[in-house]
Amino acid sequence: MRKLLFALLFAGLALGPFCGPASAADQMSKAEKGKLFLLGAQLWPTYCNQCHNARPGSEFSPQEWDAIMIHMRTLSNMPAKDARAIQEYLKGGR
Ligand code: HEC
Repeated sequence: MRKLLFALLFAGLALGPFCGPASAADQMSKAEKGKLFLLGAQLWPTYCNQCHNARPGSEFSPQEWDAIMIHMRTLSNMPAKDARAIQEYLKGGR
């Protein structure tokens, strides 16, 4: 249930205005972003709980998550596609 609440919270944030540097994610359609977001919501606890408690997306800004994910992706050796999905989820579709 908590996970669902998180997803709903982030879905709400996704509707907010975009205010960050341009990235590849901006080129994606809303449907693509939504799919990636949902995949990320599923993968996030699996990957990120392996070494420490999975940190919620609200804890860092989208820009901070970009930097953190580069680091965590290297540590965990996860496939690029999974990392992109988790990144999208943690940034709350922002
Ligand atoms: C292979 C182990 C491993 C995995 C998997 C992993 N992490 Fe980490 N994470 C670490 C270690 C070790 C540190 C602390 C030392 C460092 O920064 O290298 C850390 C630190 C962090 C921090 C910084 C904590 C702080 O308080 O500033 C965040 C945020 C974070 N991880 C998020 C994630 C997310 C999100 C994922 C999933 C995508 C993830 N981690 C997966 C090992 C891992």
